[in-house]
Amino acid sequence: MTKHYNVAIIGATGLVGQEFIKVLGQRNFPSESIRLYASDRSAGKKLFVNHEEVVVQETSLESFRGIDIALFSAGAEISRYYSPIAVQSGAVVIDNSDAFRMDKDVPLVVPEINAEDIKLHKGIIANPNCSTIQMVVVLYPLHRANPIKRIVVDTYQSVSGTGSAAMEELTTQSRQVLDGQAAVSKVYPHQIAFNLLPEIDVFLDTGYTKEERKLMEETRKIMHAPEISISATCVRVPVLISHSEAVHVEFTHAISPEEARQILSHSPGVKVLDDATVSLYPQPWSVAGTDECYVGRIRQDTSHRNGLAMWIVADNIRKGAALNTVQIAEEMVMKGWLIPGG
Ligand code: A2P
Repeated sequence: MTKHYNVAIIGATGLVGQEFIKVLGQRNFPSESIRLYASDRSAGKKLFVNHEEVVVQETSLESFRGIDIALFSAGAEISRYYSPIAVQSGAVVIDNSDAFRMDKDVPLVVPEINAEDIKLHKGIIANPNCSTIQMVVVLYPLHRANPIKRIVVDTYQSVSGTGSAAMEELTTQSRQVLDGQAAVSKVYPHQIAFNLLPEIDVFLDTGYTKEERKLMEETRKIMHAPEISISATCVRVPVLISHSEAVHVEFTHAISPEEARQILSHSPGVKVLDDATVSLYPQPWSVAGTDECYVGRIRQDTSHRNGLAMWIVADNIRKGAALNTVQIAEEMVMKGWLIPGG
């Protein structure tokens, strides 16, 4: 990766934005410059980028001049407004919001699965939802070996998925509860400390939430498998980082847990942690800060003869957001699909 690119990060002060900065540095992304943008509240703030201080600027119509690649994570509204402007200025946008994910002209990409879809972009590439990414990274290699017919997934999603204010709310409320005070909720509709909330994003007419719909629709789009039936229940849990998922999968033919472990042990981006004799399985705490999608508790689903049940955990801020976005950018650079100044 020798060519050098001008990169803009929109939402640079947020949890994912700061992880973008970290991941770009850790992976030596070939950047000529990295410019940082956020709201007017953060203008003038300084953040370290590759050991040098960079001043955060307010996002504006001028922010994208000379930018080759713009990484967005400032919410869907900002993405909807500024992405077309960035594209008009000649930048390729990789967007971490849900603004464009289901648009038919926008590739929705997990590089381990559908990197070739990147080529179809018209300026904007969407990064999938965090809970979708970790599930498809694990399920896709199994689907290729033995087509999946049905998925039932229940998620246990950490508060970092909501942003930095939610992490603050969990820690503050935990102290309040332990000190015998009333827990004050500002981000979530109810107390999250020592509690579970089966509500992520808004409720839809179907009775599902928008988060559940994203997980169901995005999975089919990324895997190019419109025929798979999926049902999801998404639950917010009092965990700071990493999402966990209990996944029940029905395949076309019978598949043994050992066969699945064998396939997954050679699959890109997947790590199998599965040994009940020593209580070895992925946990959100130990997975936080790492890049892989971890899977364990792989067992026969006793409710279906072609079924497997498993437990999937990944860091939602890294593989679920910043890392996957940077991997899309790397893929474009490696394949020669990103032309500096183009
Ligand atoms: P700011 O820190 O200036 O509010 P998180 O998801 O962790 O809460 O982060 C959200 C990110 O989106 C932050 O970087 C935040 O910047 C940014 N953001 C919020 N509103 C705007 C806006 N109107 N224009 C640009 N960036 C915004």
